[in-house]
Amino acid sequence: MNNKRRYSAAAVVLALFLCVPLHSVTLDGVVISTDRTSMVLQSRIGEPLYFSYYGMRLDEGEAEAVLSSGINSRMKALPSFGADMAQSVAMQVIHADGNPTLDLVVESLSEQTFDDGTLYCFTLVDRLYPFKVLVKYRTRSRSDIIEQWTEIVHTEPGPVDLLRFDSAFMPIRRGEVWASHIDGGSHGAEGNLVAEPLHDGILSVKGLEGNRNGHSSQAGMMFSLDGEPDELSGRTIGAALKWMGTFELRVDTDNSSYHRFFIGINPLGGPYRLDPGVTFETPGVLWTYSEEGVGGASRNYHHWALDGGMHGHDTPRDVLLNSWEPLRFETTQQNMFRLIDEVAQIGGELFVMDDGWFGDKYPRNGSSSSLGDWVVDRRKLPGGLGPLIERCTRKGVKFGIWIEPESVNTVSELFEKHPDWVLEAKGREPNYGRGGNQLILDMSNPEVQDHVFGVVDRLMTENPSIAYFKWDCNCSIRNYGSRYLPPDRQTNLYVDYQRGLVRTLERIRAKYPDVVMQACGGGGARISMGALPYFDEFWVSDNTDGLHRLFTQWSISYFIPVAAMAQHVGVQPAMDGRTIPIKYRFDVAMTGRLGLELLPYKMTDSEKSYARRTIAQYKEIRDIIQFGDQYRILSPYGNDIATMLFSGASKERAVFFAFKVHNWNNQPVPRLRMAGLDPDRLYRVHELSTMDGARTLDIEGEVFSGALLMHTGLELDLGKEYGSRVLELTAL
Ligand code: GLA
Repeated sequence: MNNKRRYSAAAVVLALFLCVPLHSVTLDGVVISTDRTSMVLQSRIGEPLYFSYYGMRLDEGEAEAVLSSGINSRMKALPSFGADMAQSVAMQVIHADGNPTLDLVVESLSEQTFDDGTLYCFTLVDRLYPFKVLVKYRTRSRSDIIEQWTEIVHTEPGPVDLLRFDSAFMPIRRGEVWASHIDGGSHGAEGNLVAEPLHDGILSVKGLEGNRNGHSSQAGMMFSLDGEPDELSGRTIGAALKWMGTFELRVDTDNSSYHRFFIGINPLGGPYRLDPGVTFETPGVLWTYSEEGVGGASRNYHHWALDGGMHGHDTPRDVLLNSWEPLRFETTQQNMFRLIDEVAQIGGELFVMDDGWFGDKYPRNGSSSSLGDWVVDRRKLPGGLGPLIERCTRKGVKFGIWIEPESVNTVSELFEKHPDWVLEAKGREPNYGRGGNQLILDMSNPEVQDHVFGVVDRLMTENPSIAYFKWDCNCSIRNYGSRYLPPDRQTNLYVDYQRGLVRTLERIRAKYPDVVMQACGGGGARISMGALPYFDEFWVSDNTDGLHRLFTQWSISYFIPVAAMAQHVGVQPAMDGRTIPIKYRFDVAMTGRLGLELLPYKMTDSEKSYARRTIAQYKEIRDIIQFGDQYRILSPYGNDIATMLFSGASKERAVFFAFKVHNWNNQPVPRLRMAGLDPDRLYRVHELSTMDGARTLDIEGEVFSGALLMHTGLELDLGKEYGSRVLELTAL
């Protein structure tokens, strides 16, 4: 193998600490492995860093074979403008002296081991300038995730403009490659799943809102390497960006043998001006690889989150009732008392008072005032929050509250005091959001960060038993400009907003690690892997229509674990204008973090007793739903019936869900096969979530082997329109 040498683990024993240079070693292949996957890079000092391979785990011999044979992509790991001309690049900068080219070569490599993985750091340096890019890979072995990001730093005599600064690039060999991504959605129709074969030209998925992810798309993509995506089989590469701001994922396919995939912050908004000595860290890309189809890739992401990637990763989620859909702005003490009593009676564990509780000079009776004035409106709640919390405690439920701390209405005391805190395009008329006068505060400004921290801190200090915040963000950045940032740093705004937000969230989490926080973005505009380290869950959509939610939740679970998906049984009709029976709505909501958004006192007795019984059953299975393995089996996209199964880690218990998506007379129903069970065990079937007097299944109490349930499946009577079944499977 002439000059080539594999970089063995033994060679780096010397490098105990992060980024200790290893000049003594001639570097070549570096194998970065998790339990079931490997990525191979080629790294030799003084030469570019090359990406060679990503896929099944390789042993030493196989890695050698990859490097020496024809399965080596050998493309630069970080193509840059100047060194890689006439093609898409991951990085482009203008140096302090105006030179717009970048040519990076390896200076050193180091590695550091942790109990659940390893951090590899490749230091790349420009051949001419004191400009460095640290390319980092952190493995999470158990969940088969490799997180990749860069750290950019220079010591040039003046600032350097970063024009493009993708977190990662990967070449994907052409073939029967399909991409699955969430795109083309909107408010009330979030989580629109698109699956398409990759084609010549550009495929781009983007988020352009700056402060939040947006309703339309998610910063993640899955590549099915064996043709049309399958939930249970097929080689799949996943990529997801841990970032709440603008993003772009693009696949550039020219007339070569590779699809070139780039993922990172969207550079829209202008170059990022980076001062000497300051480190610019790009957001992490979570790579995964699975041979169990898109479902396997999703489970890897879920494992990563449940293994510590998300806040509150091991805390069971409460069943809650939120006041928004049933009461909107009518948050009076009497109304709240009534809901607290009702949620307690029905078996709920948490009551959340939504919008409408605040504002002194300007009471919040609609969306056009008061954001920013986080003081209780004593006209509605004469005793403040105290009596509500007391009532909750007496009834045995926790108390939660809605806030939207990054926003302000111009009709507010906050805006009167601090008009300079809002984002504005200098010299231009403001472009207002919700309510006709909502603006976004400038999170790049430390004073604003203090204010936002103070919103949570003050509420918690005055009411230490607040257990839950719904943190909303109902407006995108509609005005690009900051009074805090100097004129020559205005184009840093999108990034600095996010840095300020994250700093604030970290401060909140340091002081209040146990309070549950939901990220809401006027519906699902804040669903993002980047929010997971700080938030316990997401509001999935303002659309609580049971059938629509089946689709939305299906897609969102591609990357997000269902424990982090707030799924509420809402008022009828929901946005789609349909009226759907309560059982169907409950069954759809029970596939994630179950909640309610309705007035129990308006339900019939039979609905109420159904709800009470089903909530009690949900509490018995929530460990499997929230912390088990999710197997999406039959997709609602393109099928008449949708099914999914959750199984506990030991496969002793599982819960199977089946839903009618369409309904017509004499509709054929196939055998419904399961997945994720132990083929060698016997399972007893017990139906949950039944209405009083409903026809029970013939197979109630019957026993089947896991093999039979997975290979042959069950013939289930799903009933007529909006038919659904929930089966608990318990191993004997
Ligand atoms: C957004 C949220 C809703 C609700 C309202 C309150 O639209 O998505 O759930 O909290 O704000 O104004």
